[in-house]
Amino acid sequence: MPKGLEGVVAANSSICYIDGDAGVLAYRGIDIHELAEKSTFEETCYLLWFGRLPNRDELSDLTRRLAVERKMDPAIYDMMRQIPRTATPMEVLRTAVSALSFYDIDAKAVDHDSNVRKAISLTSQIPMIVAGFDRIRKGKSVTPPNPSLSHAANFLLMLNGEKPTATAEKALDVALILHADHEFNASTFAARVTAATLSDMHSAITSATGALKGPLHGGANEEVLTMLEQIKADGSGPQKFVDLAKKKDSGFRLMGFGHRVYKNYDPRAKIIKEAAYQVFEVTGKSPLIDVALELEKIALDDEYFVKRRLYPNVDFYSGIIYDAMGFPVEMFPVLFAIPRTSGWMAQWAEMVLDEEQRIARPKQVYIGHGERAYLPLDARRDAGPGETEVRGPL
Ligand code: SDX
Repeated sequence: MPKGLEGVVAANSSICYIDGDAGVLAYRGIDIHELAEKSTFEETCYLLWFGRLPNRDELSDLTRRLAVERKMDPAIYDMMRQIPRTATPMEVLRTAVSALSFYDIDAKAVDHDSNVRKAISLTSQIPMIVAGFDRIRKGKSVTPPNPSLSHAANFLLMLNGEKPTATAEKALDVALILHADHEFNASTFAARVTAATLSDMHSAITSATGALKGPLHGGANEEVLTMLEQIKADGSGPQKFVDLAKKKDSGFRLMGFGHRVYKNYDPRAKIIKEAAYQVFEVTGKSPLIDVALELEKIALDDEYFVKRRLYPNVDFYSGIIYDAMGFPVEMFPVLFAIPRTSGWMAQWAEMVLDEEQRIARPKQVYIGHGERAYLPLDARRDAGPGETEVRGPL
């Protein structure tokens, strides 16, 4: 039985193409390198949602509609003010995106126009939730968006209370493009499973957000930074940590390395690594980049990693660029969720609108108890000597 559904084909899709051996990623047939260099996140949203690049009028209309939908019911801010300041940004996002459905008149609708409006609305609202809670938890006033700014610039404005530099805007826009979609990754698949029950878009995004939160998935970029800082603080160099990651029972993995599909360098990692140097020109070089480069060199020369085809993935360098841009490390996973929302929308719609799709219901191999009778209470055993309790599977 393939663990983690490895190699199992779950559906046809026309949104995203990955060649894991060649390290190729393309949205609707357009290579990610071209999109990162020549496109914008807004243009990439249009491409993912409508299957082609927008013409000038279509792009300006989408940009206008993203600005119009960059609003939230004040009740969402009131709710966020009740959330403990210690809550992580991903916990807040998981909660608030679910609550958005209370204030969306089309929440239950699945017609084309409602789907498009909700895709635009959620894409605009999710950065507002992230920026809004960060301001609230710091005791600062919420910064309103500026309709004349781009999606990336508006997020940085709402977060920091001031317009970003062109370098910061461009670096974030590239990161948003790179993280927008990635075929049937765990969080997208969670969205598709939810869509296959004909549940609503907000429920699908809530499912996906919960899946993305995990440290093996969208939470990895935060773990990478923690690992690099640990290596730097340790001072003995990355070799010790590479050796630890090879020990099965160590429970330690090189975060930001390995991928279920890429058995080559993740193309997004290469692009982010290059973009980091543009950011460093403004912010100054991150001390962690040298640790990351040395760690990468050692791992790529190591037989354990070579044999398992473990390369840096998108998360290995993204944390360094986010750290250099001043984002707090606990915000890194939501920096993944913000752009991936656009991919989740495209994938949700593909599922809901495909009449041949069926509810996702895999089989299992039963390995539990054979048939046995119900035991009366007096006949059941108590915890034995040395047992504080009869442990169950939880
Ligand atoms: C993302 O699916 C997507 O597309 C996801 C994503 C997206 O855009 O949506 O690309 C984003 O989630 C990127 C991945 C971020 N996660 C990490 O960086 C966490 C560290 N990576 C690993 O946990 C792991 O590589 C996964 C989770 C990414 C992939 O896991 P798999 O495919 O289930 O591989 P596995 O756990 O079965 O590992 C296979 C072997 C094992 O060794 P053996 O049993 O063969 O001896 O490789 C080893 C593993 O121990 N291994 C690692 C390792 N990753 C795998 N050993 C050390 N360090 C690692 N990072």
